[in-house]
Amino acid sequence: MAKDAADPFATFVAWYREAQGHADIPDASAVNLATASPGGAPSNRMVLIKEFGPAGFVFYTNLSSRKAEELKANPLASLCFYWAPLGRQVRIEGPVSHVGDSEADSYFATRPIDSRIGAWASRQSEELVSRTELAGRIARTAARFAAGEVHRPPFWSGFRLTPDRMEFWTNRSGRLHDRVGFERIGADRWRRFLIYP
Ligand SMILES: Cc1cc2nc3c(=O)[nH]c(=O)nc-3n(C[C@H](O)[C@H](O)[C@H](O)COP(=O)(O)O)c2cc1C
Repeated sequence: MAKDAADPFATFVAWYREAQGHADIPDASAVNLATASPGGAPSNRMVLIKEFGPAGFVFYTNLSSRKAEELKANPLASLCFYWAPLGRQVRIEGPVSHVGDSEADSYFATRPIDSRIGAWASRQSEELVSRTELAGRIARTAARFAAGEVHRPPFWSGFRLTPDRMEFWTNRSGRLHDRVGFERIGADRWRRFLIYP
């Protein structure tokens, strides 16, 4: 990328580092993820971004969850970070693809043992009869893996959202906020523009 080219990732990295270092932001990686059903009905929830860069923003989840089912049918999504103490919002939109198995395996191996067992035990987004049922599934999973490594379940992996549009919002007085948009115009090229608040 040319030195003076519009680069939303440089801004994102700078803002993310500030958010990470801020005492009043418990987890800068927490982001709202919006997906939509094939019919266009939206749904959203929070996830944690585990990796990001020009290739995209990666989160992990159960592949039978509502979000994953929606992404299977309609692989477009958007993310919205809000770092209130900094008065900043970042919106990111684009297509979503699966991360590779080895990438998912490597990340899964870094997770605490309870989270790895939980990934096996939870039927994320299905109806749960009682917490007792969940506790039973966790106990059985822990027993099953007692003697060995808890490898990644085949139904748990990551998605990478590759942005084709990003927007950086900064709080300003009188609601005359600053909005800077970026639209992808090539593999590694972006158009930068201002947006009315
Ligand atoms: C701060 C925060 C972070 C979360 N991170 C994740 C995550 O990284 N992956 C995940 O599957 N669920 C995560 N969750 C739970 C989701 O918000 C959601 O309840 C779950 O994934 C089921 O969503 P779905 O039924 O729309 O698929 C997180 C929740 C919160 C509040």
